[in-house]
Amino acid sequence: MPHDYGLGEGFEPMHIDRKGLYVNLEERIKYLHHFLDWTNADVEALQDGAKYLKQLIPAVVNLVYKKLLQYDITSRAFHTRTTADETEPDEEYLTEETPQIKRRKMFLRWYLVRLCQDPTSMDFWRYLNKVGQMHCGQERLAPLNIEYIHIGACLGFISDIFLEALMGHPQLSMRRKLALVRALNKIVWIQNDLFAKWHVRNGEEFGDEISMYSFGSGNKEGFLAGKRIIGSSSGSSLDDDQRSIAPSVAPSTLSTAPSFLTTHSGSSGHTTTSNHTVAPEMGSACPFADFAKKSSTETKIWAN
Ligand code: HEM
Repeated sequence: MPHDYGLGEGFEPMHIDRKGLYVNLEERIKYLHHFLDWTNADVEALQDGAKYLKQLIPAVVNLVYKKLLQYDITSRAFHTRTTADETEPDEEYLTEETPQIKRRKMFLRWYLVRLCQDPTSMDFWRYLNKVGQMHCGQERLAPLNIEYIHIGACLGFISDIFLEALMGHPQLSMRRKLALVRALNKIVWIQNDLFAKWHVRNGEEFGDEISMYSFGSGNKEGFLAGKRIIGSSSGSSLDDDQRSIAPSVAPSTLSTAPSFLTTHSGSSGHTTTSNHTVAPEMGSACPFADFAKKSSTETKIWAN
């Protein structure tokens, strides 16, 4: 069924109060939900898939910390609580094994567990907003000032890990994978907004009125452990998928440390990413094309 946004004759655009977006978190969330077509289907997909998301959390946390400790600019923040000061720390750079990092991994684990909880409650979004606020240097005691570039990159990195792992899940049906990654993607973009709004200066004229929202408050490590999840021969993977997607362009959840990929164009016009060569024409072979023909799942693109 094509999406009908009702733009026909007599159409009146929905009114969005600009000031409300800045001074009222509920209004901001409502607008983002509407814009992103956040529906019960997303809530159900998350409830249905929470088990799979939780299985991924330990691996995601480890990969995120490997990534943050990989660069001096992000690693230093765990000494100085800021990315804006380039002074070298007095102590050695931290490693994954240091108690401070182990403790911080726990924070990230709690955050990700929280993401798997009830998104129908306003507290869920308040918590995401609080995490955003916390990173922008506004806490009175021991402010944490993480510049937005690192936040955005980190969110993109987290999203990429979930995407790779969920789409490569050997048992979940394509319909459930798609519903789950779509719902998660919407949450990540709302979290992104709730980081960005504390960093960008739009709406500064309402500064005095921006409220400081208060807020209240396992099983196996998943199918990741030691198993190949991309290009698995089981499940619904198509041969075509395996030909058209360069393996491990996403950070492999198998590797002990995410590899640093360099991309450059060779004289052949092919783009080389690390040791994989991706021909430009392969980029157009959409991995979901076959699925779209067979599936009855409603999407904005394929239904039209
Ligand atoms: C995807 C983006 C991120 C999310 C969701 C996130 C989430 C969190 C959470 C939930 C906390 C714990 C707060 C608490 O309960 O006390 C935290 C603290 C912290 N985050 Fe982030 N963070 C992100 C990005 C970053 C980045 C990119 C850096 C560094 C470059 C960073 C550095 C820190 C530091 C230094 C703390 C304070 C830890 C402490 O007080 O011991 N975060 N973060």
